[in-house]
Amino acid sequence: MALALTDLSRDPWLLPEVDALIGANMPEFMSWESPGNWRWHGMYDRYPAHQLCLVDEGGRLVAAANGLPVRWDGTPASLPSGSDEVLVEAVDNGPPDRPDALCMLSVSVDAGHRAAGHAERLLTEARRLAAEQCPRGVVIPVRPTRKPRYPLIPIEEYAAWRRSDGRCFDPWLRTHLDLGARQLGIARRSLVIRQPVARWEGVLGHPLPGPGDYPLPGALVPLSVAEDGHGTYTEPNVWVHHAP
Ligand SMILES: CC(C)(COP(=O)(O)OP(=O)(O)OC[C@H]1O[C@@H](n2cnc3c(N)ncnc32)[C@H](O)[C@@H]1OP(=O)(O)O)[C@@H](O)C(=O)NCCC(=O)NCCS
Repeated sequence: MALALTDLSRDPWLLPEVDALIGANMPEFMSWESPGNWRWHGMYDRYPAHQLCLVDEGGRLVAAANGLPVRWDGTPASLPSGSDEVLVEAVDNGPPDRPDALCMLSVSVDAGHRAAGHAERLLTEARRLAAEQCPRGVVIPVRPTRKPRYPLIPIEEYAAWRRSDGRCFDPWLRTHLDLGARQLGIARRSLVIRQPVARWEGVLGHPLPGPGDYPLPGALVPLSVAEDGHGTYTEPNVWVHHAP
């Protein structure tokens, strides 16, 4: 099936579909209040041409990629702490005068259309956009798709896992590396969500009676419950760089 490429500057009516696609592909808590999530729609408003969409012949959304231009000096040490920080800076302070890199914060493919090259096409389009505007290419705080099955393994160890054929263990990180991207480091606090324990209990369907670390379905690391009655999910991501 041939899919057409568009974006929210050309087809703003796709906005609710983009939200619905991301929502269907992520655990519910991933869209709860965080400094970045508060600004997610601000990204659409300020950078509509960087919200890429693939639509089928009937105009229905099949895949989307969301990003924005950032300043970056090219060194791993100067990368932001992750998705939250990128959104705060780019939405509150507006487009940089001279963007260095395009930062893609989300790629989502409809569950019925996976492994068909759509994610790769969106990444290729992001690289093409960057080639026009951002001399240092594309940077991405990647959420490795199989990590929720291994929540106790430290993210740097997980990101270093390789299969017997030498390719990366995680399928989504593998797609990036196969396209020629390089792992730059860990975004240790990419997305931080702190909520009262009762809200987490609602998602889990069972009580969290005391402080400690708890398994959380769909999460990359355990949920940490503190004495103050709040649970904090601190999502780590893996920075990758698609050089120009
Ligand atoms: C991450 C995502 C965009 C990748 O899209 P995709 O179409 O699966 O991407 P790819 O075709 O590159 O697939 C990556 C690998 O997963 C495999 N894969 C994808 N879907 C699969 C499925 N349903 N069953 C088995 N394997 C699958 C592919 O075969 C490929 O493996 P390979 O490198 O050995 O060929 C998609 O899985 C998704 O939307 N996930 C939910 C949202 C998310 O986690 N996004 C990333 C963080 S923002």
